[in-house]
Amino acid sequence: MTEVQVTSSQERRDAGRLSGSGRFPPVAMPSLDYTDAVARQTAHLYERVKDVIPAIEWPVMAPYVKAINDLKQVRNAVILAHNYQTPEIYHCVADIVGDSLQLAQQAAKADADIIVQCGVHFMAETSKLLNPDKLVLIPDQRAGCSLASSITGADVRLLRERYPGVPVVTYVNTSADVKAESDICCTSSNAVQVVESFGKDTVLLIPDEYLAKYVATKTDVRILAWKGHCEVHERFTAEELLAYKEANPGLEIIAHPECPPEVIEVADFTGSTSGMIKWVKDRKPAKALLVTECSMASNIAAETPGIDFIRPCNLCPHMKRITLPKILDSLVELKDEVTVDPLVADRARAAVERMVNLKS
Ligand code: 13P
Ligand code: SF4
Repeated sequence: MTEVQVTSSQERRDAGRLSGSGRFPPVAMPSLDYTDAVARQTAHLYERVKDVIPAIEWPVMAPYVKAINDLKQVRNAVILAHNYQTPEIYHCVADIVGDSLQLAQQAAKADADIIVQCGVHFMAETSKLLNPDKLVLIPDQRAGCSLASSITGADVRLLRERYPGVPVVTYVNTSADVKAESDICCTSSNAVQVVESFGKDTVLLIPDEYLAKYVATKTDVRILAWKGHCEVHERFTAEELLAYKEANPGLEIIAHPECPPEVIEVADFTGSTSGMIKWVKDRKPAKALLVTECSMASNIAAETPGIDFIRPCNLCPHMKRITLPKILDSLVELKDEVTVDPLVADRARAAVERMVNLKS
């Protein structure tokens, strides 16, 4: 039983926060008081994050967590959250969490009416491509990505002219425009498999130069790269990691393939965000340093209390645009709606679907 009520039109006018299109009935903004009932009904969720969220912060978060979880039912909405989302989102309101590939796969299976994407814009666009008839929302349309903004569809057309016949693989961290010009997409967890799927000796893997260099170390296929970088991962240096290793005997270093090659060289393991999480959960090292966005260590720490996470903290400013208040606004007001230009949608969808349907 949920406490969020569908309102009359007069009540809607009174509430002053009317929700969008005719397809979905408007709802009023729920109360955000921290009552005894809210404390009781969210206690099991606080239990999940108590090691990473101070008790003093919970009374501010709990009313949002309760309202969002209630509204998901009223709206028949599903929340997809990337591994970089903050613990109160990742552990307390998300229905599905994962890396880019897992989120794309789950988006393809979603049977809700509304998808709320807690991640960055290219992830929401991918969900929209795979769910053209669903309402896809992102709590802040401005959540971009330095890789996605490093290349345009026109750039890919020029690359095709320059390298005729060479297959174009684009990382999912790109706009629909770029995907539409590509043969297939890939993520950090399947890039080697995708590159090898053509059976050709040369492939363009764009736009992440460091992912391309990493993949080149794992395959005999000749990889042509673009000079895009992730603004979070490019900041890590091998020097700082070696200093952490020296100061922390037994430290295991786990890196994302968006890191520069010299960083990957000093890592004990390299993988996608979910690959990194799995590695830590399986191996349970006494001390671990995740060479990636900060929130991921908090999300794993909440589930694996025995591990000491050493944190050289690099935040993704785009991921951090997504907050509980914005998720609630998104569900109440049905914003920000994610749309894809119909002129590019079919071709972009084909590139994503080829990846999702690739047999592992
Ligand atoms: P994953 O696909 O590994 O989750 O990476 C997405 C991303 O944006 C990393 O910066
Ligand atoms: Fe893009 Fe880097 Fe942020 Fe991932 S961490 S969304 S690649 S800017």
